[in-house]
This record gives sequence, C-alpha cells and structure tokens, in this order.
Amino acid sequence: MGCHNTKKSVLSSMKRCLVICLLCVLSLCLLNGWQTRFQPLRATKPLSSSRDVTILLWYWPFGRSFSLKGDVCWDLYRIPHCRLLDQRSLFPSADVVVFHNRELVQGMQKLPFDLPRPQGQRWAWMSLEAPVYNGNLGKYANIFNMTITYRRDADITIPYGEIQAKASEEHLVEDIPLNKNLLACWVVSNYRSQHKRSQVYKELSAVVPVEVYGRWTKKPLPSRALLSTISGCYFYLAFENSLGKDYITEKLWRNAFQGGAVPVVMGAPLGDYKAVLPPNSFIHIDEFASIKDLGEYLQQLAEDKKRYSEYFTWKQQWKVKLYTDWRERLCKICSQYNSLPQQKVYSDLEAWVNNT
Ligand SMILES: *[C@@H]1O[C@H](CO)[C@@H](O)[C@H](O)[C@H]1NC(C)=O
Repeated sequence: MGCHNTKKSVLSSMKRCLVICLLCVLSLCLLNGWQTRFQPLRATKPLSSSRDVTILLWYWPFGRSFSLKGDVCWDLYRIPHCRLLDQRSLFPSADVVVFHNRELVQGMQKLPFDLPRPQGQRWAWMSLEAPVYNGNLGKYANIFNMTITYRRDADITIPYGEIQAKASEEHLVEDIPLNKNLLACWVVSNYRSQHKRSQVYKELSAVVPVEVYGRWTKKPLPSRALLSTISGCYFYLAFENSLGKDYITEKLWRNAFQGGAVPVVMGAPLGDYKAVLPPNSFIHIDEFASIKDLGEYLQQLAEDKKRYSEYFTWKQQWKVKLYTDWRERLCKICSQYNSLPQQKVYSDLEAWVNNT
C-alpha cells in the first residue's frame, strides 16, 4: 500500500535496484548451468567428516572374482567413501559383511560363526534369484541384518536394470525399429511344460505365430546375435521363469528393450512392472481377459504402425540402465549406509524371501 505514495526518485532507484537484482540472478543461473554441464570434469571426491564405510565380500558369487584395486566405488561409479574388500583377514574392521546365498545354501561356503562379531557389524544376505531358487533358508533365522536383492522392499535394492531420465542433450528421437518380419519371438532354453509360461506360449502360438529360439527348439542364439535377432520381432516374450514379487530380469531390460521389440511380460504382478517402468512401454499378460485376446491385440498392433510406435515414445525421455557388475551392486550399500536402520535382524528370512 505504501508503494503508491512513494516519491518518483525513490521509485526510480527501486527500479534500478530491481534491474541489478535481475542481472545478478541471471548471471548466477548461467554460472550454475555452466557448472552442472561440466560436472563430470570437475568431479572431485567430496570431503566428508564421516569415515569410509567398509564392505567385506566374504566370497565371490559363482566363484568369479573381479579386481578391487584402487578405490573401486569411486573410480568406477563415483560413490565416495566406500571401501570394498574381499580379504577375510579384514573381518574385524568390516561394517558390512556380504554373503551371496547360492554358495551358502549349496554348502560350499559357511558363515563365520567362529569369529567374534564386532559390535555394530551388519551381515547381509544377497541374492538375485527368484524365491524358488533360493533353497531352504530355514536355518538362517536371526542371523542377517540386511537383505540385498532385486526387491524394492529389500534394504539394498539391486535390480537387473532400471529406467533413468535422459539428460536434456540426450533427448534424441531414436529410430523406432519398424523393419520387422516376425510377430513374436521367444528365447527359451529350459522348457518345462508345467511352467506357466509354457502354457501361455502354447495358447498364444495357437493365435499368432511365435518364433522360438534356444536350446529347446535347437535354434540356439549366440549372444552376439541375440539383440539383432530380437530387433526383427515386433514383440518379445519376456516371460520370467518364476513368478515373484519384483522379479524382472534382463529378459526385459536387455533382451526386449535393447533389442528394440515391445516386451510382452509375465512373472511379477502387473503393479510391480508399473512401478518401475514408464507407461506404454510394455504389455502384461494380465491386462487381457484371455491369451486369445492378447494374441489378437498383438496382431492388430503390428498392423497399425502408428499405435505400435507409441510403445517407443518413452525412449525419448528415458533410458535403460543395466546392472551386471557385482562391484556396482556392493558399492550401492555405501550410498545407502546412513539410511539403514540402526538395529535390524531378519528373524525369519525364509518367510521374508517367500513373501511373494
Ligand atoms: C545383527 O544381527 C545380530 C544377530 O541377530 C544382532 O545380534 C545384532 O545386534 C544385529 N546388528 C545390527 C546392527 O542390527
């Protein structure tokens, strides 16, 4: 209200002030943009008063080890203050000791019950398998403090892949692969007629042609030919071998998405896929009243280039990140270490794992 009564001179000096302020804000913005753009070059390890987090991998999954020379988490993934070790002698100094499930349940490895467990040290159970392939976990009650799996409700979630926003300069419109000659493709090595996916395949192939590759049909696909073959298919059947909460594997992330086919998915519930994927990026079998309906939908979509290409629109804004390196998964523990609950014990790991 007072503004209306101010004298002209005050008003003009206020205007000048406003202009200067605007200039300041503008230059700050420019400076900021400049910095963000050149972040990768300028990235220096942030100083932190907190000490390094020490992660000890008790043995390598599947017996295949990788180099831990240097500051692996920083050098490869820009995760600071994270010591990744595999020397058992360093057990007393580890904040987290990680045990991969496969070797434990198969009896090839044992938990170090003979060593005194340091105060505050967490033991982590790690697996990328679906529940049925995790074996009998009954004897692991009241031992582990954390879980590391693909499930969103694990303490550390290590999915097979994820969707990431593209930076604005990456917003290139990718070519939609439309030069296709096969309607639906499926790769299966371990065919079991009692699997639900085999049932779905049988019903679907009665409605539309399905090209099947892999050991079962004696049409193996060498890995170098996999993606180029899939790119010749309108649809890729990314059928998981087990049904389980959040169990979405490289069949979707790599085969379908990188191969440039629209994934037809089954395995985890529809809601799990919706939670991690952009709309219009996949087709879930549960979206149809019957497999026959699904087949008819696929047929129609392949004939309608415009509607078909809408299944690729998401790629303008999003990209797929695959996770394949155990070191990257282990480094992730450090990024989330400070948000872990102070005290936690899985009193019934088996129930947690089988809670699908
Ligand atoms: C980890 O689990 C053990 C065994 O049940 C328990 O004694 C310890 O307090 C737990 N530690 C943390 C940090 O939760």
